[in-house]
Amino acid sequence: MPLPIEIHFKDVDLDPVSDAGGKVVVFVGDDGRLDAGARRVNRLMRKALARFIESDAFAKLSPGDVRSLAYPAGMTARAVLVVKLGKRPSVPEARKAGAQLAKLIGEDDLLVLAGTIGRADHIALGLALRAYDFDTHKTGVGKNIGKAVFMVSKPEEMAKSAKTMGAIAEGVFFTRDLTNEPANVLTTDDFAARLAAMQELGLDVEILDEPDLVKLGMRTLLSVGQGSDSPTKVVVMSWNGGKRGDAPFALVGKGVVFDTGGISLKQAAGMEAMTMDMGGAGVVAGVMRTLALRKAKANVVGLVGLVENMPSGSATRPGDVVKSMKGDTVEIINTDAEGRLVLADVMWYTQERFKPVGMINLATLTGAILVALGHENAGVFSNSDKLSADFIKAAEAEGEGAWRLPMSPAYDALLKSQTADMKNVGGRNAGSITAAQFLQRFVKEDVPWCHLDIAGVASVKSETALAPAGATGWGVMALNRLIADHYEG
Ligand code: BES
Ligand code: MN
Ligand code: ZN
Repeated sequence: MPLPIEIHFKDVDLDPVSDAGGKVVVFVGDDGRLDAGARRVNRLMRKALARFIESDAFAKLSPGDVRSLAYPAGMTARAVLVVKLGKRPSVPEARKAGAQLAKLIGEDDLLVLAGTIGRADHIALGLALRAYDFDTHKTGVGKNIGKAVFMVSKPEEMAKSAKTMGAIAEGVFFTRDLTNEPANVLTTDDFAARLAAMQELGLDVEILDEPDLVKLGMRTLLSVGQGSDSPTKVVVMSWNGGKRGDAPFALVGKGVVFDTGGISLKQAAGMEAMTMDMGGAGVVAGVMRTLALRKAKANVVGLVGLVENMPSGSATRPGDVVKSMKGDTVEIINTDAEGRLVLADVMWYTQERFKPVGMINLATLTGAILVALGHENAGVFSNSDKLSADFIKAAEAEGEGAWRLPMSPAYDALLKSQTADMKNVGGRNAGSITAAQFLQRFVKEDVPWCHLDIAGVASVKSETALAPAGATGWGVMALNRLIADHYEG
């Protein structure tokens, strides 16, 4: 899977600057001091760069902002892009600078005079992440994006960390592609095939089909897919980069390839958005891809429940009672509360089979999480102060919003059913919390666990700092960092 933009790191050589085509990028910090690259450009431009830097317009820029000085006299370049960035930028500042360059690159090549600027690798990552565009289904728009050459003082060092950045970018793009893909293309079969293809990267990939799931007793999962012509599947991805025999960390994803609501049919307006209801499974897949690409020294399993929630003559009805793999029975009040039915069985199976040291599930689980947190933060629910704090810290470092919400027995009590061990909805109030309480009933007490409700962050209608409108890939970078910081070594 190629990156959307070609990026190279080379030793600093300022000779090509004067007759470079494309766009030349220079960095200037708050202090307005020019480094060697900027000095060269300033001289060629007959001090126009210095005049810009003395202006109010430059003073008003924040770190990571970029302005274009078009058609500079004395140069053949089409523009000089001035990035306001100090020598030691933060990771988010560096990525923001890269993302702004991606928006200005057009069809031109970039000559990036990074010199001794810190975090050139993260500038490159921001550039790659924002250059992403999901255009597979647009005919005749063969996009021609230029390439970027970074001139840096230590290109070998950069090339090494650029490989890690490439692994991260590829994981994020895999997640975004899966999440953006429409449901007639990304069927459960197609999704499973894309995951199986990751065996090339050294991942073990195992596909459980309906007969296997019946044998295992995964009736809550199967009840969700029984109205669809697409078969329900569970895909198990294992990355064994750690010590042999060490228990793995587990990731579990909701992979509803389309959520019509089932017999409790959703309203027509906006239903097309439910093509992203496999976003949790998409993140799990993206993280597994990144771990494999960077050959992480950790044991991690990623399991996804792939299923389509459709109404039909064979679909689950409200009032139906189904038995989970765990053995607990569930009264299905609303067939649109299907994500928790998928996760209940897949999480139980994960714990029974792998005895994980910790487990994080991701799901576009509730509309209520959008009411609570909007698009800025995913909801974090957990039985472990340590695991949730570790995750939130990793998310913060990656600029991915995550906010913990409470759980307690009083919320759990709202799931009481007349006819079964529990019902699948707890009423309108605290909808995201009662969903989390439902999931917790399928978590073993000694397993540190986090549920991430990503309904608000997985896909958004307007662009974000590092992504165009659509799937964001939220969570890939945070989970990759969590594993790197706590489960690798
Ligand atoms: N997939 C939806 C949640 C969702 C909503 C995801 C908006 C992304 C954006 C989920 O399966 C669902 O339908 N949840 C119901 C639960 C309710 C019936 C208890 C909801 O949120 O309305
Ligand atoms: Mn639903
Ligand atoms: Zn759903």
